Amino acid sequence: MKLKESKTYLNLAKSFAGECQAMVRYRFMEYGLRKEGYKCLAEMVDNVAYNEFQHARMFYTKLQGADNMQIDNIDISSGYPFRQKWDLKENLRLAAIDEGDESDRIYAEYERTAREEGFEDIAELYKNVRQVENCHRMLFEDLFEQMNTGTLYSKPTKQKWKCSACGYEEEGKNAFSVCPLCGEMQGAVMLKVES
Ligand SMILES: [Fe+2]
Ligand SMILES: [Fe+2]
Repeated sequence: MKLKESKTYLNLAKSFAGECQAMVRYRFMEYGLRKEGYKCLAEMVDNVAYNEFQHARMFYTKLQGADNMQIDNIDISSGYPFRQKWDLKENLRLAAIDEGDESDRIYAEYERTAREEGFEDIAELYKNVRQVENCHRMLFEDLFEQMNTGTLYSKPTKQKWKCSACGYEEEGKNAFSVCPLCGEMQGAVMLKVES
């Protein structure tokens, strides 16, 4: 089967569109987080946005390799999430749901289809991307949980808190609100995540 005549061809185009949108949604989140002073959290989300950019690049590259043909336009019809507003905490929760959906439902189906149609390399691409999206899900779940319970910068037991700007470290249940060494605000304190 030629890629251009397959379902996988359309799935790649849908995946590219989905990754581009995810990247922009995370840019929105990063923008909001920076405005609120969550410097380290913004950097984490920025890193996820970069992952999505790379996924978009991989899907795009597979499409461009399709039977050595010039692609002008691809008509796709698909559903994409548009639920996020400007609530940082709620957006972390929604991002976790969307990442889980992408990994467990959408890309799982695309992986299966690619295998059925004989595109092993594309099936493997979906399998590997799913692994990353699942890590994103766990990261967003963890960050939402910490923000929801107010434990981003406050833990039940003593631990080390490190300033991402100057490297200063301090032990305690609560992170310093202003770094005593460089004067950075609490948002610069490095966050601890499970994933
Ligand atoms: Fe992705
Ligand atoms: Fe993701």
